[in-house]
Amino acid sequence: MSVADTPVPRRAVPRIVANWKMRGSTAAIDALVDMDRRAVTLPVALAICPPATLIAAARARLAAIAIGAQDVHGAPDGPFTGAISAGLAAEAGATFTIIGHVESRARTHPTPADLAAQIRTALSAGLDVLLCVGDVADLLACLPADTAFHRLSIAYEPPWAIGGADAAPIATISAMHDALRTALATLWGDAADDVPILYGGAVDAGGAAAILAAPQVDGVLIGRASLPAATFAALVDAATVSAAPLPLTELPA
Ligand code: PGA
Repeated sequence: MSVADTPVPRRAVPRIVANWKMRGSTAAIDALVDMDRRAVTLPVALAICPPATLIAAARARLAAIAIGAQDVHGAPDGPFTGAISAGLAAEAGATFTIIGHVESRARTHPTPADLAAQIRTALSAGLDVLLCVGDVADLLACLPADTAFHRLSIAYEPPWAIGGADAAPIATISAMHDALRTALATLWGDAADDVPILYGGAVDAGGAAAILAAPQVDGVLIGRASLPAATFAALVDAATVSAAPLPLTELPA
């Protein structure tokens, strides 16, 4: 078991998840090796979601940075040319997958039932799920009530902010995270408190610390600012300013 597989309590450390989208290379993974060595000493939990073709290389080269897929199909296998199954992503070395990213939705036009199937199939294949939603109605429409919530994270991603110039205002982020937390509590009561809620959309090194300092924000999902490695390192450094030092006893073994 690598440290990336070690469960981290929701509030222990903020999560920084890099979504490389259709970018990256094995060289870009190699550029993260130094950060990977430092990662266990940082008061943040790091993850990258490279293109599917790079998952195995990332798994081979990185130990402390968790590896996720960017999307998986709702069926466990079948005649779906170009798609990636949850089982294949897991076999390549992913431990979680993004589901419902607005750019994936624009390509595949999933119904809420399709997204629910993706969540179920991913969890069955052993992948944790990072579900991207635009609001509470979106969350409640696609999240199966019987989801294993201890293996779920949510990302609030306002579609207009993704790829845009500015992140959502902090007050908007806080209000939506509160509303999402309340909605999760209607499904699962106090246990929902353990589900991390991340923010995504135009987060950069200049804005990350303030967003992570907002109440109910448990992490950030980063697109453009996650590459190249130097830009990502600047963001991680900025983010760690807002994170409380991790007591040695809570460091992943
Ligand atoms: P961005 O992308 O940081 O480039 O806006 C965020 C995302 O797609 O999650």
